[in-house]
Amino acid sequence: MNPPAVKIAPSLLSADFVNLARDVAAIEDAGADLLHVDVMDGHFVPNLTIGPPVVKALKRVARRPLDVHIMITNPLRDAQAYLDAGADILTCHVETEPDALAIIRASGARAGLAVSPDTPIEQVAPYLAQVDMVLVMSVHPGFGGQSFMPEVLPKIEELRRGGFERDIEIDGGIGPSTIAEAASAGANVFVAGSAIFGSDDWAETIATMRSIATKHLAATA
Ligand code: DX5
Ligand code: ZN
Repeated sequence: MNPPAVKIAPSLLSADFVNLARDVAAIEDAGADLLHVDVMDGHFVPNLTIGPPVVKALKRVARRPLDVHIMITNPLRDAQAYLDAGADILTCHVETEPDALAIIRASGARAGLAVSPDTPIEQVAPYLAQVDMVLVMSVHPGFGGQSFMPEVLPKIEELRRGGFERDIEIDGGIGPSTIAEAASAGANVFVAGSAIFGSDDWAETIATMRSIATKHLAATA
């Protein structure tokens, strides 16, 4: 198979919320391919972050696609608000209301389906034909800065083995020290919050991650 292109998606959850526009510009200049936006509703996950007004504000300054990850209980009710706000990729969780994929696709945005660490990958199977991307969570959703869970990697290997050739995003605990194994499993879109924003040189960290991922992903082809 031709592996899809490596993309690095810094998570704005680790940016400075007082200076979001400044950090968006800087992270784009540092080489970000996508801007990962973590929406949490305080219900599906025990944390509350941002909603449609902030996504809309980000859209005004973003030069890269907004990769919006909605960790919310009611995507059937709320997905449209994130689409209207300017999400280019919208990813809902299979543990919630995956039928929201139809709303996302109808809008013309790219549709993603996320799977939490404790959820078997078989649950995404019925939806694969409708998704542009599967997001495999490598931490329990809710907070940045957690440790990578390598035990989720067989899910990615299984998707690739089954012939899934679209994007597979991995999210949680990804950085220069964990990206090799994620890419070797077959992931090609890499979310990283603390590892990038917490580093001294964002451009260097992104470049390092990209080069490690490219090498290991090519080896899986
Ligand atoms: C966790 C979020 C992640 C998180 C990643 O629920 O979905 O996107 O911000 O943060 P790090 O890279 O610090 O694990
Ligand atoms: Zn995320």
